[in-house]
Amino acid sequence: MAKKIMIISGSPRDNGNTLTVADWVSTGATDAGATVEIVRADRIPSKERGCTACMGCQNSEKFGCVIKDDISTIIAKIPEQNVLVLASPVYFMGFSAQIKCIIDRMYSLFKITRDGKGITHPLQYTRFALIATAAGSYDHGLNLLEDNMKAISSFFGKEYSSLLVPHAPVKVGSIITDTELLENSLAFGRELAS
Ligand SMILES: Cc1cc2nc3c(=O)[nH]c(=O)nc-3n(C[C@H](O)[C@H](O)[C@H](O)COP(=O)(O)O)c2cc1C
Repeated sequence: MAKKIMIISGSPRDNGNTLTVADWVSTGATDAGATVEIVRADRIPSKERGCTACMGCQNSEKFGCVIKDDISTIIAKIPEQNVLVLASPVYFMGFSAQIKCIIDRMYSLFKITRDGKGITHPLQYTRFALIATAAGSYDHGLNLLEDNMKAISSFFGKEYSSLLVPHAPVKVGSIITDTELLENSLAFGRELAS
């Protein structure tokens, strides 16, 4: 069956590095037979942006964020995916605020077991991936996004893979000429679809 992949992009820049690489990854995955949806976190109209710490998710039998807005609708679709890809520029050594709002609200996708020793979650078929772009080198923030995503994936007991792009051009649109990155992105997309 065709793999379902959701790519959530946290970049606010049209034709920026993150969305360009996400598009290439999507093309590679689609060509390999997957169904890909790209969600732009910066375009989601929402009542609340981040988690409000209401703990409604932890006090409910159901999985998912209890805030009634468009971010909750996106969160509800995550368990239907074979791969959830978070795509973000590095912003001051971390994820962009746009995507961090979604990551925090993914807290609603697990529950701590009664004995307090483990978790349950609805992500039986979902694995995680990261696309991250940065102007600097690996040590100027890509390493921290990688560690963060590895920790989240491991928390859910999930496989994880990443496509990290250091030294991405600052000028919007210039990344389009990077044919080596294009090939790597297409290959990464094919791998996600396999
Ligand atoms: C607010 C802001 C903070 C940034 N912080 C970092 C940083 O800490 N490390 C880094 O290597 N690049 C940093 N950058 C550069 C971006 O990560 C890089 O240009 C990225 O590829 C932009 O992606 P986009 O074109 O999808 O917006 C920053 C850019 C902005 C606008």
